[in-house]
Amino acid sequence: MPESVATELDVLRIRGQFMSLVDGFVHVDGAAGSLVPYSVASAVGNTMRSAVANRGGPFPSSALADELVHAGRSAIADLVGGEPGAVVLGPNMTSLTYVMSRALAKTWQLGDEIIVSRLDHDANIRPWLQAARAVGVTVHWAEVDLETCDLPESQYAELLNERTRLVAVTAASNAVGTRPDVTAIAHRAHEVGALVYVDAVHAAPHVPLAINEIGADLLAVSPYKFCGPHLGAVAAAPGILAGLHPDKLASSPDGVPERFETGTPPFELYAGLAATVDYLADLIPSEGNRRDRILASMRAAEAYEQGLFLRLESGVRTLPHVSILGSAARRTPTMSITVDGKHPREVNEYLAERGICAWDGDYYATELFNAIGVNAEGGAVRIGLLHYNTVSEVDFVLDALAALR
Ligand SMILES: Cc1ncc(COP(=O)(O)O)c(C=O)c1O
Repeated sequence: MPESVATELDVLRIRGQFMSLVDGFVHVDGAAGSLVPYSVASAVGNTMRSAVANRGGPFPSSALADELVHAGRSAIADLVGGEPGAVVLGPNMTSLTYVMSRALAKTWQLGDEIIVSRLDHDANIRPWLQAARAVGVTVHWAEVDLETCDLPESQYAELLNERTRLVAVTAASNAVGTRPDVTAIAHRAHEVGALVYVDAVHAAPHVPLAINEIGADLLAVSPYKFCGPHLGAVAAAPGILAGLHPDKLASSPDGVPERFETGTPPFELYAGLAATVDYLADLIPSEGNRRDRILASMRAAEAYEQGLFLRLESGVRTLPHVSILGSAARRTPTMSITVDGKHPREVNEYLAERGICAWDGDYYATELFNAIGVNAEGGAVRIGLLHYNTVSEVDFVLDALAALR
């Protein structure tokens, strides 16, 4: 195997920004939550050491709170190619998806239909099923090819009709990495007037995103998956938020996007969010505004991660006792494996003892793993790479798996 993976990224420089890497562990658990660079931690800390009041007061510490909200929204807008005024921030993707599902359900009627997918994390399934049940809306399922873990987009032709109000679909599976053709699905959905809610939580750390190219009406991400603080965000296409009315307190703002955000925001985390997107924009040296630099960086990160993943996948395929779930043509560098005769928890404990942080179970891809049938056996073990992982870390994981008998 070659000693390196060709890349525009200066991976050593990047790794030097992560104080947490001094723990000496191999962190291939990024799909559950990534490490955070120094600049992000220090933006959060500096904000907490500064005078920051609530919004709307006639003094500088209140103006700073307004600025931080704007900085957080602008960061997400630059990341996904959206507008700051159409970005809703919240504690995590799950909470925001509940907010959005309840607000959208107010626009549905008995007899309407929605479509969810078997590939999705439960956070983009259960809120929709519960909202649909409350209103009497019929739910249809897009199914996964259980051999390849692809989500064929052609099936949406059958599932969609003029009663379909919403399609909820993932841009990438957090369990098996599959990246369905969301653009084609959104195109079909729009032909019948349905809205499209895209879960980009697992796609955002790995690929450049453009909300309008995807065709998402609402697109959800979680900054803690792309080296940021524990937050969630939903970016909307122009005009979508204006038509939705979530439950809110009487005196909280009525405008958009504020009316989707309950309570007092975590201003210090918004400072961290802005620093996160600055960090991503600087993964490689490039010219232009922050959006341009993010696109260049994410293209470079994607190419590097795919090189690492190829090495991981080809190595795992030589191990007769290890099986990979799925083989979709377009995947993030995220793999679920099972090991003959071993419970996934046992495998994960073995990896942890060797200094490897991975994940086991179904990672909330419950519908997918039930359909594949692995949940009865404890699910699988996930190895998820990020741009801060290295060739030697991949080889270390391969050696550990090879020695597991
Ligand atoms: C693909 C995907 N969607 C949604 C979620 C839920 O995100 P959050 O933890 O921000 O609620 C996760 C978290 O693991 C995920 O991987």
